[in-house]
Amino acid sequence: MDKQVIVVSGKNGQLGWELQRLSSNYSNYQFIFCDRSELDITNHDQVATFFKEHQPNFFINTAAYTAVDKAETDQENAYKANAEAVGNIATLCKQFDATFITFSTDYVFNGDGTVPYKENEATEPINYYGYSKEAGEQLALTNSEKTIIIRTSWVYSTHGHNFVKTMLRLMKERTDLNVVNDQVGSPTYAKDLAEAVMNIIEQEANKYGIYHYSNEGVISWFDFAAEIARISNAKCNVHPIPTEQFPTPAKRPKYSVLGKDRIQEDYHIELKDWKISLDSCIAELSAK
Ligand SMILES: NC(=O)c1ccc[n+]([C@@H]2O[C@H](COP(=O)([O-])OP(=O)(O)OC[C@H]3O[C@@H](n4cnc5c(N)ncnc54)[C@H](OP(=O)(O)O)[C@@H]3O)[C@@H](O)[C@H]2O)c1
Repeated sequence: MDKQVIVVSGKNGQLGWELQRLSSNYSNYQFIFCDRSELDITNHDQVATFFKEHQPNFFINTAAYTAVDKAETDQENAYKANAEAVGNIATLCKQFDATFITFSTDYVFNGDGTVPYKENEATEPINYYGYSKEAGEQLALTNSEKTIIIRTSWVYSTHGHNFVKTMLRLMKERTDLNVVNDQVGSPTYAKDLAEAVMNIIEQEANKYGIYHYSNEGVISWFDFAAEIARISNAKCNVHPIPTEQFPTPAKRPKYSVLGKDRIQEDYHIELKDWKISLDSCIAELSAK
């Protein structure tokens, strides 16, 4: 029997890269990994031709416009990648009977909550990135019923740009560092998310809709930074500050913890504790 074909867009992003690493454990599938030059998700003709040529069984879209602050002023490009392109891929998945797995964000919520957000709770993004991702969710769900949307939060990896790597660098350069302590959420190690995605595919990925995934734990960015400093034995002092003292072009939700019951119930995905995953990421970075 022919192997099932899994296409992964955005192969050089954090999640795309982790999926590439993981794919060597899954020789039962044929993987096709693409970067922007091989598959620009906003080029609808190119994506349609790609579907015809490769006839994927699963399309994992890790490509996205992820520059949250830049999206405030570059709205057209954010919408093209996070909404229109996602809707177009879903339409093609429907046409070719492929399962679509794509990713969204905790930033679809307004952050006024005090208990973990459930998948079916009302969304109300407070920045343009969140708005474009929310629009992508709706288009994906409307255009193909075989769609799985995984909302995730605070993603980091040994690869690419992220909070963990930025903190490690700044903690070497500076003696003191201020980090906001009034935005609360849960970090996600992209390696764990990649494993969850492959676990879902191994279970045939036949339960659809929106799922939440992050590591286990509820912390502020300050807590995150303090743990990075502790694990890496940094000499730098980390100080908690309120958001008002660290203004950014895009507003961030105060509370964006995702409730993850559904992914555990439907796909029996085990959630790793955020400190254990952070520890293993920093250990890998130190070994480099
Ligand atoms: N990072 C987070 O904290 C976070 C939080 C919540 C949700 N998410 C979601 O999780 C998913 C994975 O995020 P990530 O952290 O792995 O993202 P990432 O590291 O920023 O990678 C995104 C990748 O998408 C590629 N890309 C952008 N536009 C493209 C296009 N038009 N065609 C093809 N490729 C394109 C980028 O390529 P270039 O390098 O060429 O630009 C980059 O390799 C995304 O859906 C993101 O919105 C992320």
